Amino acid sequence: DLNLKINQKGNVEIGGADTISLAEEYGTPLYVIDEKRIRDNYNRVNNAFTKYYKNFKIFYAEKANTNLAVMRILEEEGSSIDAVSPGEVYTALETGFTPDRILFTGNNITNEELKYVYEQEVILNIDSISALKRLAKITSPNGLKLSFRVNPNVGAGHHDHCITGGPMSKFGIMEEEAADVYNLAKDLGFNPIGMHSHIGSGILNPEPFKLATESMMNIAGDVAANANIDFEFLDFGGGLGIPYTPEENLLDIDNFAKEIVGIYKSKLNEFGIGKPAMYIEPGRYIVGDAAYLLLRVNSVKQSYRKFIGVDAGFNTLLRPAMYDSYHHIVVANKANATPTEKVDIAGNVCESGDLFARDRILPKIEEGDLIAILNAGAYAFSMSSQYNSRPRTAEVLVNNGESELVRERETYKDLFNNQIIPERLKK
Ligand code: LLP
Repeated sequence: DLNLKINQKGNVEIGGADTISLAEEYGTPLYVIDEKRIRDNYNRVNNAFTKYYKNFKIFYAEKANTNLAVMRILEEEGSSIDAVSPGEVYTALETGFTPDRILFTGNNITNEELKYVYEQEVILNIDSISALKRLAKITSPNGLKLSFRVNPNVGAGHHDHCITGGPMSKFGIMEEEAADVYNLAKDLGFNPIGMHSHIGSGILNPEPFKLATESMMNIAGDVAANANIDFEFLDFGGGLGIPYTPEENLLDIDNFAKEIVGIYKSKLNEFGIGKPAMYIEPGRYIVGDAAYLLLRVNSVKQSYRKFIGVDAGFNTLLRPAMYDSYHHIVVANKANATPTEKVDIAGNVCESGDLFARDRILPKIEEGDLIAILNAGAYAFSMSSQYNSRPRTAEVLVNNGESELVRERETYKDLFNNQIIPERLKK
C-alpha cells in the first residue's frame, strides 16, 4: 500500500496539495515534502516502542534527508540525531539539536574531524581501535563517555551495497575483540557506556532485526561481564524498510516493537545489565514516503522501445540507477486512467543507465504530462549532484494543502561555486 491520494480532478495529491498546481507554481523537477507524514511516521515508531519500553529514543538518521525544514520538524517532535559526518553534526547543531541529542557515528574519520566532533560535545560512537587510540591522543579523555559500534555478525539490506553487518562489512568492531576494546577505552581514560550496531538498510522483514538484537545483546552481556561496563544506552541502528511497490506493506510496527523489546528485556535480565536506554536510528522510515519527485514529460520517443523522456535524471534521484531500486511512478494528471502501455521512463543525463523505470505499465503518456515518483523522501535529494552540469532542484514543503519553498532551485551560476580559474588561464 503506497498511500496514494487522488483528488476529484483525478490528479495526484500530496499533503493536501494538487501536484499539478505545485508543478505550475514552482516548476519541475521538484521535490515535494509532506510535513504531516514526517510527523506521523516519527510518532508511529516512537509510540510503538515507548509503549513497551519507556526509556526509548529515536535518533533520526539525518543522511536520509538533511533539508533544514525537515530537521526542524523532527527537532520539534523531540527526535535526536544520528550524524555520520562532521557536516551532519554541524547541520544538526545549526537546526537546534543540543549536543546531548546528537550521536556521531564516524567511519574512517581523520584526526581533524574527530577533534571537531569532540569539541562539539556530541556523543561519540567509535568504529575502530584506530579511531579510539587517535581520539585519546588528540583530546583529554577525562572520563569522557563514549560508545562503540560493533558488528553483530548479522547483515541485511535491499541491495548488497546496503548491508552493513556481517563478514564483508567495513563497519564496527568484531564480537571477539569487543571486551578488549572496552577495556582499552577504560585504560585510556574514557568512560564507555554505550554500544551500537546497524545491520543495513531497506529491511521489511523483522527476522534479521530480531537476530541482530539478540546478537548485539550477547555482545553487550559479554562486554558488561568482561570489561565491567555499566551501559547507559544500547543503540540498534536503523534499517526499517518501507513499501516501494504497491504489493508491499508497511511493517506492523506495534508488533515489531513488541518483539524487539521482548528480546531486549529478556537479554537484559539474562545478563543482569540493568535498564539502559534503548535507541534506534531510522532514516528511511521517517522520511522515505513523505516526499514525491515531480517531473515533466518533455519527449515521447518510439524507437526500439517506447521511451518517456523527463526533465531530470540520476543526478536528481540516484536510487534506480545505483541500486536498481523500484520507485513507483504515477502519471500525476492521469491518476485514474487505465494503464495501457509498456514504457521506459528515461532521464536527461547522457548515460544509458539513466532510467527511472523499465517496462512500466502506465496510461498513455503525452508530452506535457506530469510524472510523480513516489517514495522520494529518503536518499533522494541527499544523494543528488550537479552531474551533467544540471543545477540541483528545488524543494517545497506542503502541509494542509499549503506549500512553502524550502530550497531554492540552483542556477547555472551555482555550477561555478568555489571554482577558480588560474589567472594565467583567464581569457
Ligand atoms: N544508522 C546508521 C549508522 C546508518 O549508516 C544508516 C544508514 C542508518 C542509521 C539509517 O538507515 P535507514 O533507517 O534509513 O535504513 N543510500 C541507500 C541507503 C544507505 C543507508 C546508509 N546508512 C539507499 O538509497 O537505499
